[in-house]
Amino acid sequence: MDRFVPPDARILDADVDFQALAAQDPVWVPPPPCHPGASRRDFIKGVIASGTAVSALSYTMGGRSARAQSAAAPERLIAINVNGQVRRTDVTPNETLAMTLRYKLGLTGTKLGCDRGECGACTVLIDDVPHHSCSTLTHALRGRKVTTIEGLEAPNGELHPVQKAFVEELAPQCGFCTPGQIMSSVALLKVNPKPTRDEARLALSGNLCRCGAYDHYLNAVMRAAREA
Ligand code: FES
Ligand code: FES
Repeated sequence: MDRFVPPDARILDADVDFQALAAQDPVWVPPPPCHPGASRRDFIKGVIASGTAVSALSYTMGGRSARAQSAAAPERLIAINVNGQVRRTDVTPNETLAMTLRYKLGLTGTKLGCDRGECGACTVLIDDVPHHSCSTLTHALRGRKVTTIEGLEAPNGELHPVQKAFVEELAPQCGFCTPGQIMSSVALLKVNPKPTRDEARLALSGNLCRCGAYDHYLNAVMRAAREA
């Protein structure tokens, strides 16, 4: 089996070619210039390549300014598959999936930390692959399958095995990063049901935890793999 390399691990590489990555994955927007090898120009080119116009000025002022500008942009009705349901909503051309999920669809389990592709708090699955929803454009998701933390539990309310393992290991502290940690873990176990601890560490490497609960999260992933 191919070794699972999450998008977040890829962006830690110092010499990563962001343009090539963006070309491989049409819904992935290259991270902003704080990452080695990336530049503000790369980000803007990536957004434009996705069919969206966002001004350099609004980006310079930060993601929240970009959103303020998006309020004036025309909205378009789209239908996206979220947690197995087709959800219709109006989105602006430069609206991120995190904003759509939280503020249009009421799915607030997806957290917004940095809002710039660095912390992993906003991780969701798109076609079972983990993505930063703060760096993914909603309008690019037609025909794709989005899974959020709310979509993991069974219809009868039973928690997903990974969620149970996180509870058993008392993994979260403040819990803010936990949805992202769980989504990355679920993605890992789909492609590698019996990971080594190092493989699990790599898969979660893009999910930062300000409380430093990393070992607890790894214990939880290994428990979920053991008990599956
Ligand atoms: S909020 Fe998306 S990576 Fe931090
Ligand atoms: S548990 Fe607090 S940030 Fe991770």
